[in-house]
Amino acid sequence: MDRLTYSTLRVREQGSVLTARIHRPEADNAINATLVHELDDVFARAAHAEHTTVVVLEGLPEVFCFGADFGVISDAARAGQDTAFDPEPMFELFRRMAYADVLTVAHVRGKANAGGVGLVAACDIVIADDSATFSLSELLFGLIPAVVLPYLIRRTGFQHAHYLAATTQTIDARQAHAWGLVDAVGPDSEALLRRHLQRLGRLSKKGVARYKTYLRELSPLGGHTKDVALATNREVFADPDNVRAIRRYAEDGVFPWESPTAPDAAPDAPHATSPHPPSETTVPPQDQPHAPSPLPEPGPPTAALRAPAPQAAAARVPAAPAVSPRALGNPLFREAHGVDYAYAAGAMYKGIASVDLVTALGNAGMLGFFGTGGLAPDAVDDAITRIKKGLDPGRAYGMNLLSNPEAPDLEARTVELFLRHGVRSVEASAYLRPTLPLVHYRLAGLGTDPDGRLRQDHHIIAKVSRTEVAEHFLRPAPAPLVRQLLTAGLVTPEQAELGARLPLAQDLCVEADSAGHTDGGNAYVLMPAMRALRDRVTNEERYADGAAPRIGAAGGIGTPEAALAALTLGADFLVTGSVNQCTVEAGTSEAVKEILQGLGVHDTEYAPAGDMFEMGARVQAVKKGTFFPARAQKLYDLYLRHDSLDDLDPRTRATLEGKYFKRSLDEVWRETRDHLARRGPERLAEVERSPKQKMAHVFRWYFVHSTRLALHGTPDQRVDYQIHCGPALGAFNSWVRGTDLEPWRNRRVDVVAERLLHATAALLTERLTAYAALTTGATPPRNATPPTSDTAPGGPAPLATTAE
Ligand SMILES: Cc1cc2nc3c(=O)[nH]c(=O)nc-3n(C[C@H](O)[C@H](O)[C@H](O)COP(=O)(O)O)c2cc1C
Repeated sequence: MDRLTYSTLRVREQGSVLTARIHRPEADNAINATLVHELDDVFARAAHAEHTTVVVLEGLPEVFCFGADFGVISDAARAGQDTAFDPEPMFELFRRMAYADVLTVAHVRGKANAGGVGLVAACDIVIADDSATFSLSELLFGLIPAVVLPYLIRRTGFQHAHYLAATTQTIDARQAHAWGLVDAVGPDSEALLRRHLQRLGRLSKKGVARYKTYLRELSPLGGHTKDVALATNREVFADPDNVRAIRRYAEDGVFPWESPTAPDAAPDAPHATSPHPPSETTVPPQDQPHAPSPLPEPGPPTAALRAPAPQAAAARVPAAPAVSPRALGNPLFREAHGVDYAYAAGAMYKGIASVDLVTALGNAGMLGFFGTGGLAPDAVDDAITRIKKGLDPGRAYGMNLLSNPEAPDLEARTVELFLRHGVRSVEASAYLRPTLPLVHYRLAGLGTDPDGRLRQDHHIIAKVSRTEVAEHFLRPAPAPLVRQLLTAGLVTPEQAELGARLPLAQDLCVEADSAGHTDGGNAYVLMPAMRALRDRVTNEERYADGAAPRIGAAGGIGTPEAALAALTLGADFLVTGSVNQCTVEAGTSEAVKEILQGLGVHDTEYAPAGDMFEMGARVQAVKKGTFFPARAQKLYDLYLRHDSLDDLDPRTRATLEGKYFKRSLDEVWRETRDHLARRGPERLAEVERSPKQKMAHVFRWYFVHSTRLALHGTPDQRVDYQIHCGPALGAFNSWVRGTDLEPWRNRRVDVVAERLLHATAALLTERLTAYAALTTGATPPRNATPPTSDTAPGGPAPLATTAE
């Protein structure tokens, strides 16, 4: 390789190892455009050099790299220039470090912050000195480590990265080692590095290049990740509030949460180029009484994470950095489904989750699943066309796919429709095990881009309430079904091969007690069990980084408290149902919405489910003001006790005909028979042979009828309305009582979602601040805790004015 001279780097070469040291002592080794350009040049040349197999990246002994150069941003703002520097070169630099044909080794001593952590995370191997510390301080200034996170998540997994970003907490080298950010740590990192280089020095260029190519294919990054990362980075650096915060810090040493006139405001703030807050790790507490300590220390106490001395902390505890609603949940969920929020509205049959509902959510950056249940393929076809028309370009939508063992043909036709329309997100419900059409949908979306990156165009969210069902979806598609699809020419050998390495569903929606068909499960129990199962299966199947299935939560989410509880249980995304049925867009009658608006938390109960009547399946429905649950139960009891309609005593028969059906049972049977004849004569013949089956079909008519009455809002038959609903709506109703959202006519589905998410984020901030106070023994200042109006539905600021 040519001898090279750079202004921000010191480069030396020894055999097959090239060492690049960041050298900007005047700016705490902060990142500027020149450094990015020069580093990129070093890695590009090393990748192409015939003999270079390893590049070591290191910083100064006390600081590895401190992130973006705030001095430059502040200067640009003062000069009236653009402050949003192009983040693409940095993204591409990280990508080159991670995937170019050379092994990259970070040797970290001292502090690594923000973009500095990105440089570390992008390396193949990280060796840290005991003196090394790591932090992401961006959120303190309203910024987001958007370009860093994809690489950090690749190394540490989502939660550790999320923790670092959300809490802005500094961690020491041992903690970073435990979390996977560091591979080797010791008091003499030079010796540690030498030992590693001895081993790496034995590798051939060809072997290294081939290995890195393979890694590139295994866990590619780019495409949508890149688009989102760059767009987010540009957005936060262009935000005038953030630029103001950066300037105040760079010029006056005042942190965003401090009043500029406060007597104790940052008298000895760290270097002006640094976005890093003073921390208990790096600055003695007595020097920095306002050091943020947003969370109690994680895991076992370490010296670095020890809380500040009480006398220092007692002065005041700042509010934890505001959490943005967009930051809730798993970014990979947002990326996969092309949404801004990790939030979905579950399907509601017969188009109750309507075209308008799905479109409104999609245009607000969320995911709505159209309720295909009980609709003919033509109606579903028409709905997809209308949804696509109503959505702004690039916005997401999803469709419900229901297992239907009684009509397998319908499932296959529905999948054909989805494939024809290019539906990208499907909520798969009522499955006990994978079926051919479902596997077909998943595999048909797999492929590789021309540059070798894995493409997954079809995303399945499998809705489950039981672990044994969940496991089917967490594993790759069953081999016999894949073979069948291959033989039929419905998938390619490449798709079959890719499918064997990926879970059938990338998203599992764990449905606890809700309006859906559940066993009335308990989220506190189900979520940990499902997550443990996911971890076990991920391990056994050896899924690549980022390919582990995500776990979402549904059931009971109607308040910020519930949403936060679900997130704390580890939910990667949230799914609501009941609250959406009582919105302007929901495709049910106004009469139903009037009833729903007045429900409390005790006004629903489990009743037999019409679609799985004979199996004894149950579903939750409104009991206030309707007889439906009681009547449905009565029908089920009669079904269990009798073998035929002829066994019913005359009084019972009269009650059913006069009150429930409002027509004779013979009339009901005639209608049912005509329907069955249209669906399939074989089925009809079978039912006619069995008096018990005939009775079941007559009773099931009541369920169809009562649904229809509700959907049409038939005025004089309210007592028979069948309205599926869980207690989440009662909780929502009491949360919004006395606010603009009390009347259902003000409840737009996207507004409901935004209010919920905004209040959840505010509540999280509030809780973090309160815990910080507990940790330090200080009383939170009155303004540290967001006013309760922030967590109330009536008064949140519009989403656009939050920290993003
Ligand atoms: C009226 C109504 C109809 C529903 N229909 C379906 C459906 O057709 N398919 C489905 O997968 N889930 C269905 N669900 C369940 C929701 O998609 C969602 O998973 C559930 O309601 C979430 O729990 P929650 O009601 O406690 O918010 C329905 C829910 C309601 C309220």
